[in-house]
Amino acid sequence: MALTYADIEHLLATRGFHQYGREAVSQLEHALQCAQLAEQAGETAATTAAALLHDLGHLLAPSGGAAGQDDLHQYVALPFLRGLLPDAVLEPIRLHVDAKRYLCAVEPGYWEALSPASQHSLVLQGGPFSGPDAERFAGQPFAQEAIRLRRYDDHAKVPGLATPPLAHYLAITRALADEGMPVAPVGSLAHSSAAIAHPA
Ligand SMILES: [Fe+2]
Repeated sequence: MALTYADIEHLLATRGFHQYGREAVSQLEHALQCAQLAEQAGETAATTAAALLHDLGHLLAPSGGAAGQDDLHQYVALPFLRGLLPDAVLEPIRLHVDAKRYLCAVEPGYWEALSPASQHSLVLQGGPFSGPDAERFAGQPFAQEAIRLRRYDDHAKVPGLATPPLAHYLAITRALADEGMPVAPVGSLAHSSAAIAHPA
């Protein structure tokens, strides 16, 4: 069953006030900060939409997995988004946990810089990739987008940070379906200048 844009907006606007794991921001703040970092980096609309929606699985299944188990949230939203959004959005979402496992394997100092919550979830998610698994991961389509998304994800945890409103990023996401799969940076799309300290 595919979600509609209204469903996505409803999920983010109503369930987004849950705390983001063990971090000091809400799910909605985390999603907006992640999308903002992607937008500021000049990412395409598709990668920016992926940044906004990468943890939608947490909102669809707020209780997550059983205690001490991986909740596999990177997969939960995919069946609901397929048909609405292109692979350029879905694949970075699917791969964003594997991107953490990849970066932990190949980048000195990456693991040490993760938040304690992210280090904890890494263990449940299988830990750093082995050499061959890291190589396999990097060879997949959209692996580079997933790696960049991962970095935005890691930094999108700043309490009280001002971001554009949810409507701004929903408009970018919606334009993807209306216009096919644009590759232009989101700066070319209509931009709301209404930054808010406490996202609604
Ligand atoms: Fe996240």
